[in-house]
Amino acid sequence: MVRDSSERFRPSCSHRRLLTGLLIATGLGATAGCARSFQSTLTPAGPAAERVAGLWWLLFWIAVAVSAVVVAMVGWAVLRRRGPRTRVRPAGGRSFVLVLGVAVPAVVLTFVYAVGLSDMRALAEPPRPPEFTVEVVGHMWWWEVRYPDAGFTTANEIHIPVGEPVALRLTTDDVIHSFWVPELMPKMDLLPERVNETWFLADEPGTYRGQCAEYCGLQHSHMAFQVVAEPRERFDAWLAKQSRPAQEPATELAARGRTVLETTACATCHTVAGTGADGDVGPDLTHVGSRERLAAGAIPNDVGHLAGWVSNSQTVKPGNLMPPQPLSPEDLRAVVAYLQGLE
Ligand code: CUA
Repeated sequence: MVRDSSERFRPSCSHRRLLTGLLIATGLGATAGCARSFQSTLTPAGPAAERVAGLWWLLFWIAVAVSAVVVAMVGWAVLRRRGPRTRVRPAGGRSFVLVLGVAVPAVVLTFVYAVGLSDMRALAEPPRPPEFTVEVVGHMWWWEVRYPDAGFTTANEIHIPVGEPVALRLTTDDVIHSFWVPELMPKMDLLPERVNETWFLADEPGTYRGQCAEYCGLQHSHMAFQVVAEPRERFDAWLAKQSRPAQEPATELAARGRTVLETTACATCHTVAGTGADGDVGPDLTHVGSRERLAAGAIPNDVGHLAGWVSNSQTVKPGNLMPPQPLSPEDLRAVVAYLQGLE
């Protein structure tokens, strides 16, 4: 299995905590840790990410060893100079350079290259054939997510069953983006007029943050997404719910919100399945109330943030395609109530 060979070089969690402290001291700490409170390639939760982490630790230990040797030799040279000075040229200077300057680096680099190639080969195919496919289309600056077998589209939040490989088909509607979930998989670019195929698998349930990893314009850093890995029953329930058309408004205020949404600019850009809103410019809002975050991870999905986003999203994410909506306070409250109810 892929996982076994990649754990060769990885230290235990307690050792990693110690190293995290050292790395923080050297300014590299943001990428090293054990808790899953942030995205990190060093806390892998799937076989593909395990490979990447294994390679990272191999390179880390080689760098530590090389640094230790260099520091020891510099120290030795400094101490040696304190002795009586002689003008005698040290014997074996040329072979010293050939061995430590050419032969040893060549062996180390060839070894690392071979490990890298074997990792790339292991990452090319999932451990077993995926049961279903998720299609992701990059937009400036959000992620369109399609489940072709179930026949629905969502945005910025991908649900998958734990322990099952999932096939990914990636493309873009505009510029190049890069799909990256550090704890689950290496990066894969989304290219115009081309579909890149890859896969990912989560070994443990949880919510994993993904991030666009290719500079794609003003809001590149606000182009995040979430991967929610959950047990099969919960995933099936989510799939069934997302496949249904939008929920009917539960209150009078929400009903008014639906009318506002259907009769204003919202309906020309967004889809709410089962209503008059069937635009395809912005994210599908059929089940927007079920998502944890809005605006591709930029803000939490609560009443205040949603109202601010609808009325003027340019203050949150300048440059995005949605213009400010000149709604009356009552209409804004109604639209927010309706959208919140779309679970
Ligand atoms: Cu999309 Cu950076």
